[in-house]
Amino acid sequence: MHDLLFLFGATGNLAQRYLFPSLLHLWRDRLLPGGFRTVAVGHQPMETGQFRDWLRERLAQESADDPALLEALLQRIDYAAVDLRDAGAVAAALARFAGKPGVSYLAIPPDLFVSATQGLSAAGLLEAPSRLVLEKPIGHDLASAQTINAALRACLDEARIFRIDHYLGKAPVQNLLALRFGNTLLEAVWEHRWIESVDILVAETAGVEGREAYYGRYGALRDMVQNHMLQLLALIAMEPPSALEADSIRDEKRKVLRALRPMSTTAAVADTVRGRYGPGVVDGEAVPGFRYDTPVETFVAVQTWIDNWRWAGVPFRLVTGKRLAARTTEVLVSFKPVAHWLFDRPARGRERPNRLRMRLQPNETIELGLMGSLAAPEWGALELRPMSLDLSMSPAPQRRIAYERLLVDALRGNQTLFVRDDEVEAAWRWIDSIERAWSLTAAPVLDYPAGSWGPADAARFLPATLARPRGL
Ligand code: BG6
Repeated sequence: MHDLLFLFGATGNLAQRYLFPSLLHLWRDRLLPGGFRTVAVGHQPMETGQFRDWLRERLAQESADDPALLEALLQRIDYAAVDLRDAGAVAAALARFAGKPGVSYLAIPPDLFVSATQGLSAAGLLEAPSRLVLEKPIGHDLASAQTINAALRACLDEARIFRIDHYLGKAPVQNLLALRFGNTLLEAVWEHRWIESVDILVAETAGVEGREAYYGRYGALRDMVQNHMLQLLALIAMEPPSALEADSIRDEKRKVLRALRPMSTTAAVADTVRGRYGPGVVDGEAVPGFRYDTPVETFVAVQTWIDNWRWAGVPFRLVTGKRLAARTTEVLVSFKPVAHWLFDRPARGRERPNRLRMRLQPNETIELGLMGSLAAPEWGALELRPMSLDLSMSPAPQRRIAYERLLVDALRGNQTLFVRDDEVEAAWRWIDSIERAWSLTAAPVLDYPAGSWGPADAARFLPATLARPRGL
């Protein structure tokens, strides 16, 4: 396990909200190596002492019950102020660490990936067995992703490049692999003959605040669908890998991404909706709308198809948005109705098709919805009721930030839950087809009030199980 971490983007949003808290938890649970050290790299001019004070303030609440723990971690963090646009400056600032294997984590905007990587390489910090971790998004479209990937490969080989998608570190996502491939039952019906549709919903109550510039350029399609949602889709739809090993899994995911049907201009009109939130009320609080000078979406709904044997004709509906009515992330696999209904109408119209529902947020659960009956036949007609089989781990394991698992994997060198260059490019190819269709059809960005479920036109894309407000 490597014990030296270079954390680029150390004063950024992601580092503050997730990366440093993750390190603190891992440190507390003794999951980091004894000699662990971090070099925090940021653009703000600061001394190490000032950086530690700044970080202490941010992590104070997290470590309120054990301030000594935080102090011990802070003593292992040094700060380096560097202009990341300048590869030479990166090399000069970090050359003194050359010769020790480390992990460099780039939690920075993608337009800085190439200069930062070239600087690391010039400083001798990417020699084997050192590794490089990159945050999403890898580029802005296929062409920019290809440029970045080529520049990375010129500095180190793919086996040491770790592209993070933190959704892959979420526990239910790994449970999905266990359920699919550790049982015969599900896999036997996991195809177009038995499955009617697949819904993937990532609804957030949070807005764009603080990230306007980034979001104004990317929008929800590039920020959420290109990576998190397509990774979920790929894991749901992929063929069984021959081994639980990084490249076997990534080969299968790539095949799915390549089989996604490109969006045509005709399909885009019927199969996509873009929206942008205006002012409204979220969790009882009045919030402003998202204003930006380019028409970029904060909500997107896309219906797509995977053109292969297993999934022929099965719609995959992907919906994500900011400032929606509730925070919920779920995958819903709906099975076809039974071929011939034997029973009286179920009481109160509660007949439901079988469904596998995997929730990632706000709580982590997996449930299988079945129909059953509690009434003995001699008491009258057999009355069917929907029942739910809880497939979650019980008792629930300790809940961790998804980044914790991925940080440990990167320090250990396990690539299974990281994304390979060709997967990223296949995903961008499909996303580019949507962006192209939107631009050719001048697809409108429809307004929706913050605190709703998106533009009214998107209601047909929302999963059937969603508790919707009246009117939808
Ligand atoms: C990030 C996006 O990758 O994922 C954010 O850039 C989004 O816009 C976040 O809010 C959602 O992550 P989670 O784990 O809160 O669902």
